[in-house]
Amino acid sequence: MIVLQTPRLLLRRLLPGDLDALAALYADEATRRHLPCGTLTRAQTQEELEWHRHGHPDDPRLGLWATVERSSGAFLGRCGLLPWTLDGVDEIEVAYLIDRSRWGQGLATEAALGIVDHAHHTLGIDRLIALIKHGNAASARVAEKIGMHHERDYRHAAGPCWIYARTR
Ligand SMILES: CC(C)(COP(=O)(O)OP(=O)(O)OC[C@H]1O[C@@H](n2cnc3c(N)ncnc32)[C@H](O)[C@@H]1OP(=O)(O)O)[C@@H](O)C(=O)NCCC(=O)NCCS
Repeated sequence: MIVLQTPRLLLRRLLPGDLDALAALYADEATRRHLPCGTLTRAQTQEELEWHRHGHPDDPRLGLWATVERSSGAFLGRCGLLPWTLDGVDEIEVAYLIDRSRWGQGLATEAALGIVDHAHHTLGIDRLIALIKHGNAASARVAEKIGMHHERDYRHAAGPCWIYARTR
């Protein structure tokens, strides 16, 4: 199921056939350095893929989506919308992860802008956040480029984070 498209990218629900490509991204230490659980094994990747296959189990409108290059069909990453409860408040995060060989080409920003538009205008979600581990400067820059501002710090179990946010 296609969720949304941008000039270069198509975001769709994850499929079993995405496992090889996703597992390769998740096994890469540099890619996973700022994520709470670090690298993932193939089995852990499969578990996550299954969790998101039909949308997020708590809300099928949300989830992590395969992020595919429209011109080549290449699997470039996974991006999407994730529900969290932070300090007792329900929040929705714009999530992005792109193949390291394609960093710096504006792809995360393009995907995230498409996701923001989808969230605000198709799903009617007014407030969006990014939950970013201290030191993940590239992620913070993407958050800024999609119109988010640093709101506060947050003490996550995996280490201190910044919360960036935007409201429609
Ligand atoms: C964060 C991530 C998605 C960015 O993907 P990307 O496609 O390279 O992002 P873009 O090209 O759209 O934009 C990256 C911006 O960060 C900047 N940037 C990159 N590395 C940086 C660094 N170390 N310090 C400061 N800015 C940095 C780039 O210059 C660019 O900003 P600019 O357009 O103003 O020059 C990518 O690095 C990634 O997949 N990281 C691993 C997963 C991850 O950490 N996800 C976020 C979890 S909160």
